[in-house]
Amino acid sequence: MAIPSGKTIVITGASSGIGKELRKLLTEHGNTVVNISRHPDKSDDMSYAADMSDRERVKEVFKKIGSRFGKIDILFLNAGYGLSGPVELIPDTEIEKINDANFLGAVWSTRAALPYIPRGGRIIYTGSVSGIIPMPYRTMYNATKAALIEFAMSMSMELKPLGISSSVMLVAAVETDFASRRTKFTTKDPRYAEAVNACDEFIDGKGGKNATGKLTARKAAEKIVRRAGKRRAPLRSLIATPLYYLAYPLALLCPSLVIRIVANVFMGKA
Ligand SMILES: NC(=O)c1ccc[n+]([C@@H]2O[C@H](COP(=O)([O-])OP(=O)(O)OC[C@H]3O[C@@H](n4cnc5c(N)ncnc54)[C@H](OP(=O)(O)O)[C@@H]3O)[C@@H](O)[C@H]2O)c1
Repeated sequence: MAIPSGKTIVITGASSGIGKELRKLLTEHGNTVVNISRHPDKSDDMSYAADMSDRERVKEVFKKIGSRFGKIDILFLNAGYGLSGPVELIPDTEIEKINDANFLGAVWSTRAALPYIPRGGRIIYTGSVSGIIPMPYRTMYNATKAALIEFAMSMSMELKPLGISSSVMLVAAVETDFASRRTKFTTKDPRYAEAVNACDEFIDGKGGKNATGKLTARKAAEKIVRRAGKRRAPLRSLIATPLYYLAYPLALLCPSLVIRIVANVFMGKA
């Protein structure tokens, strides 16, 4: 399907990265596009400030958007951030915070938006390949994305009778500031230090930030819009570089093998 036009679209996390490109692309095509994020440009009256982990604020913002525009045709639940470090040592509050923002934020948003989504409406969640392919020291982030994937897929059944679709995009390897913006916990604890450092060096270097062939945020946004806009909305769809088209089915079929490979690549000899 062509890129939609003339729709009212809400995107969470459209102040940077993939969300910002989604917003630009959809605005260029004549849609009314609203952004919800923590740090929107104050002079932009199509942006609303909300932290996804603040349930009451999320409800309030969707109410404002709903009464201002009357409906939400397409909802992109894209806001999210990364967290790294060994689960044993990450403070409890950080674990709660990432679950609240990445997973529950999407749940609160879905519930708050549904009264305004008409038949034919669509909800598109930004998941991650990390919700399917495990990774060390990104465990809590990965768990929030795994929860989001299951939520999106189960919701597709709940929303079908309402004539609304639910799709989740399994994103990986997109050039944004996501990795450098993550909340990072390193440690001197000898039980963890070497492996955590090896993993961070890999991800912050050739395996992540400096990896070759990553998708630009614009390319990722185009792919997301085209996939999500298909006549029959996909349940889940991969938005990633070619390597992931091999790794993804392998992770579903042979998880133990994939865990061995990932540990080897990410943790080196640690
Ligand atoms: N880049 C990748 O390779 C990749 C891979 C897999 C999945 N993803 C997913 O793609 C989505 C977008 O990430 P990105 O790569 O575009 O990174 P990004 O440039 O850091 O964008 C993240 C967006 O989410 C918003 N956000 C973060 N925490 C929030 C919170 N608690 N409440 C409200 N808004 C919040 C940020 O805005 P404010 O700071 O203004 O709040 C920003 O607009 C995320 O869900 C991420 O998990 C990215």
